[in-house]
Amino acid sequence: MDFDHILERRISVRSFDSKPVKDKELLAIIEAARLAPSACNSQTWRFVAITDREFIQKICDEAMRPVIPNKWLKQAPLLIVGCSKLDVISNRIGTRVTGIEYYQIDLGIAMEHMVLKATELGLGTCWIGWFNENKIKEILDIPKKIKVSAMLAVGYPKKKSAKKRNRKPIEKIVFSEKWGQSLKMDH
Ligand SMILES: Cc1cc2nc3c(=O)[nH]c(=O)nc-3n(C[C@H](O)[C@H](O)[C@H](O)COP(=O)(O)O)c2cc1C
Repeated sequence: MDFDHILERRISVRSFDSKPVKDKELLAIIEAARLAPSACNSQTWRFVAITDREFIQKICDEAMRPVIPNKWLKQAPLLIVGCSKLDVISNRIGTRVTGIEYYQIDLGIAMEHMVLKATELGLGTCWIGWFNENKIKEILDIPKKIKVSAMLAVGYPKKKSAKKRNRKPIEKIVFSEKWGQSLKMDH
C-alpha cells in the first residue's frame, strides 16, 4: 500500500470484527511506534497492550466518562494504552524553559505511527482521548508518576465504510510567510 493510500484509507473505526489481532501484527505496530522520533530521543512513551476481552469490557464499563461513553470499545480485540514517563530529566528541563510538553508530542507521534502501520496491515483504529485517567491507572496498576494521555482501539473493521472526510480547506489551515497571509504556490 503506498503512503497516500494509507493516509486516504485511515479513518476512525468504531465497529470491529471478532477476529483477533495477531501477535506479529501487534509487534509490527509497536515497532512502528518504537521508530518514532522524540524530543532529545527521550523515548518517554510506554504502552500497555490489552487483548483480554473481559479486561477491555471492564475498562469500558468503569473508566469511561459521560457524554462520550465510547461503548463501541467493548468490541475491540486490542486496546493500546499510551503512557508517558514524566521523570525524564531532559524533558523536564526542556519543558521548564520552553513551556512545551514534549512528552505529549512524542506520544502523539508514536501512536500515530501505530495508527498508520495498523492501517497498512488492513486493521482499523480509533484514538480514544475521552476517559478517566485515574480509573485506567487503577485498573491497570499504572504508577502515579506515569501519565496516560491516549488510548487506541485496534481491530479488523466490521464494515468497509467509505466515510466522507469533513476537513477544513487548505487555505484555512496554512498561511504563507506570515500569519494571516494566504498560501502562495509559485513553483
Ligand atoms: C486525541 C484524539 C482523541 C480522540 N478521542 C476520541 C474518543 O474518545 N472517542 C471517539 O469515538 N473518537 C475519538 N477520536 C477520534 C476523532 O473523533 C476523529 O479522529 C475525528 O472525528 C476525525 O475523523 P476520522 O479519524 O475518521 O478522520 C479522537 C481523536 C484524537 C486524535
